[in-house]
Amino acid sequence: NKAAGSIQRFPLVEVRGIPLRNWIAQNWSSIWAFRPDPSDLLISTYPKAGTTWAQEIVDLLLHNGDAEICKRAPTAARFPFLEIQYPPPVPSGLDLLKTLKPPRVIKTHLPIQLVPEGFWENKCKVIYVARNAKDNLISYYHFDQMNLIHPEPGSWEEYLQKFMEGKLAWGSWYDHVKGYWKEREKRNILYMFFEDMKENPRREIVRIMRYLDLSLSDDIIDKIVELTSFNVMKNNPMSNYSSVPKIIFDHSISPFMRKGEVGDWTNYFTPAQSQMFDEDYARKMADVDIPFRTRI
Ligand code: A3P
Repeated sequence: NKAAGSIQRFPLVEVRGIPLRNWIAQNWSSIWAFRPDPSDLLISTYPKAGTTWAQEIVDLLLHNGDAEICKRAPTAARFPFLEIQYPPPVPSGLDLLKTLKPPRVIKTHLPIQLVPEGFWENKCKVIYVARNAKDNLISYYHFDQMNLIHPEPGSWEEYLQKFMEGKLAWGSWYDHVKGYWKEREKRNILYMFFEDMKENPRREIVRIMRYLDLSLSDDIIDKIVELTSFNVMKNNPMSNYSSVPKIIFDHSISPFMRKGEVGDWTNYFTPAQSQMFDEDYARKMADVDIPFRTRI
């Protein structure tokens, strides 16, 4: 069909210095003008930091651990993706938002300065998930191979350079994690770490529950820990992105639910690359002290 014919690895176009998919850039003014409801919740991440995981936790918390209700639709239909835009007639994130009544759980990868101002004016709750740079990069490298509408990742060496230069879709990881970190107290952002979620999922689920002003029983919390474990989510067709057409996500190249681990970067970085990366990281992150862990 027409939509399928226009599927391609779309180029990136900068919006206020941030490289975004050309369709997002073209529709930027309507994205920027979006007004959320004060009851809407925003889940924000740099791509591949644990978005889907946080979404599933939040959905289960909001539905008192009801697994069946949380299987009502695939992730992408349950949580409108604020800035996503495709060639027509594929509905955009804004189109999906129009069909859903608040309170909605909205996904974004936008750096903080590009989040529409209505979220701050309306004091919406915002959950930010951050993942250590090296694992985040490895996950993104695999994703850009299987996601056939993202630019070609190129070789591992080239990809590493692009990540360090902030040239991947949604821009610099360094600026992204720092932007939300610096504002977290003033704007009441719940700043989470992927590594903490792996280390002690129950503790982190309880943190989210309290932030949402919910109070679930211990049994239900235990159930949510189980339902949001990597293996359960990998086998859940409503959370593993298996319903996305193969012309967009080719899971045979690399599954969306790939490994879900901390420290997988050690299988890819050479010692020399790791040292070079760490030196550059120290310079780029010198102005903040964000407690990232590359191993747990
Ligand atoms: P890997 O590629 O390292 O496996 P996002 O949802 O932001 O796109 O992030 C996807 C990454 O989160 C993938 O990382 C995926 O496997 C991991 N992930 C998703 N659900 C998870 C879970 N329940 N537990 C651990 N990791 C999970």
